[in-house]
Amino acid sequence: MKKRSSLKIMLDLMILAKVHTRDLVTATLAGVISFFSSTGIAVLAALLIVSVGGFIDVPFSKIIMWMAVLAFIRGITRYLEQYMNHLVAFRVLSTLRDKVFSAVRKLAPAKIEGSNKGSLISMITSDIELIEVFYAHTISPISIAIICGITYIVLIALYSPAIALVTLISYLIMGVGLPILFSKWSKNIGRILRRKIGGLNNIFLDLLRGITEIMQFAYRKRAIRVIEKTNKSLVEHQAVLIEQLALLLALEDVIVVLTICAVILIGIWTGLAPAILLPLTFGIFFSFPAIANVASLGNGLSQSLSCGERVLNLLEEKPVADEVTNGIELNLELATDPLIVVNDLSFSYGDRLVLENFNLKVAQGEFLGIRGESGCGKSTLLKLMMYFWPLETGEILISGHSVQKINTQSLWHNISYMTQHTEFFEGTIRDNLLIAKQNSTEAEMRDALDKAAILDFVDNLEHGLDTTLAELGDNFSAGERQRFGLARCFLKDTKILLLDEPTSNLDTLNENIILDALKCNSDGKTVILVSHRESCFKTCDRVIDM
Ligand SMILES: Nc1ncnc2c1ncn2[C@@H]1O[C@H](COP(=O)(O)OP(=O)(O)OP(=O)(O)O)[C@@H](O)[C@H]1O
Ligand SMILES: [Mg+2]
Repeated sequence: MKKRSSLKIMLDLMILAKVHTRDLVTATLAGVISFFSSTGIAVLAALLIVSVGGFIDVPFSKIIMWMAVLAFIRGITRYLEQYMNHLVAFRVLSTLRDKVFSAVRKLAPAKIEGSNKGSLISMITSDIELIEVFYAHTISPISIAIICGITYIVLIALYSPAIALVTLISYLIMGVGLPILFSKWSKNIGRILRRKIGGLNNIFLDLLRGITEIMQFAYRKRAIRVIEKTNKSLVEHQAVLIEQLALLLALEDVIVVLTICAVILIGIWTGLAPAILLPLTFGIFFSFPAIANVASLGNGLSQSLSCGERVLNLLEEKPVADEVTNGIELNLELATDPLIVVNDLSFSYGDRLVLENFNLKVAQGEFLGIRGESGCGKSTLLKLMMYFWPLETGEILISGHSVQKINTQSLWHNISYMTQHTEFFEGTIRDNLLIAKQNSTEAEMRDALDKAAILDFVDNLEHGLDTTLAELGDNFSAGERQRFGLARCFLKDTKILLLDEPTSNLDTLNENIILDALKCNSDGKTVILVSHRESCFKTCDRVIDM
């Protein structure tokens, strides 16, 4: 994983929020006015005391009136600051979620195949949520602290340069020293914590997927132990972070108390009038919250920044095969024969050679079977035809054009690719068919279902095409799933069909249904059917061994 400094992460995250600069400035201004008001109220309260004591001659009612005005301003601006900050934060987060998803889409399938889905899930959910801390509680607090701090120091210096100097030192320790110290200290913990939470998600996903195995094998106790162990180490790290936070808060209080003591001593020592010293002391005491906000960042920010780092890294990750966008558009109406040509193709995953000098020609309209032992590279060949992975040596031509020169979207638009497992998304059966062809009519959908021999099944459902998957639950049998997958292919109606063991999970009856459906409806289509099962190939025009 690429590591960046905290400053670099903050800069990169700020760039993402550039379009919201106006709102952030509004939030900061509101925050500054709000802190000025609260400090102002404290100073007025001190003036009230000195006026009661007879040290100054300001009407009681006037001070009370100004306090009320400031309280009103404080309320409004505080509200505005919080509202604007969070609005910006949540807007940026929603943009980030979109960006993360498109990054994942770009990386898929090559980089996603081998990655931890749990980490991805925690990135899309909790990591992005935690970045909120950065946008809502970092950018404007820092700006507010700088503006307020400088103003306070200048104002104090007008009455006592010595007190101004002491206050400045306290501000610097609290607003610069503490956050740097604590963010360095908690940065690694923050990283480890985010990784551990991702890991926990992974374990849960894994266990949920394998719940039947857990039930039937003696894995139950071990599964519980695995979760307990991960949980325990998560809590241990969280405890360290909380200890640091407690220490930080205690240190903040110590700094405030020591500063106030120093201010009073210097004031008395330099002979400052009580009518000035008391309001000054009150003002300084109440000026610290603006600075303390920055000090507290060191702790919470570490997690926010490590989340930011993970998300930024994902956004910048390069896909294995870059989507071709400035290539040619495939038009298979004018296709050449042979339609698919593979020349001297060699391919390896890392240093594991899977294909070596492989050659193949598939004629237009041919129904080709590819037979081969498990692991010999059949699926890989189809994935290369889909340009899921970039080619190393050799070439794959579709209608005379290399797949690396065809616009990837156009390539996918012209090929139907079906594997042994058909995925469904939330929604109705209709929604799940429309994935294949957005604007298909009811008649087209029914026709596709009919060709895939699943129309009767749908018609027998109470809500037909509008049955939701939730209603069906997991009640699709493997055979029905694959027939839906096939219906999607028929609906998409492309000239090329790549089928990767579409019947390997099925019994002979279902296998025959699928194969017959394919045979009857593949006129004019070029089909490559990959399998290691002999029974699959009876419908093929030609079968090759790999
Ligand atoms: N993403 C990957 N990363 C690394 N190795 C992989 C990857 N995908 C497949 N392999 C390896 O490459 C080899 C060929 O895999 P492939 O899936 O193409 O085989 P196959 O012929 O389709 O096998 P089967 O009949 O079992 O489906 C296998 O040994 C497999 O372990
Ligand atoms: Mg395979």
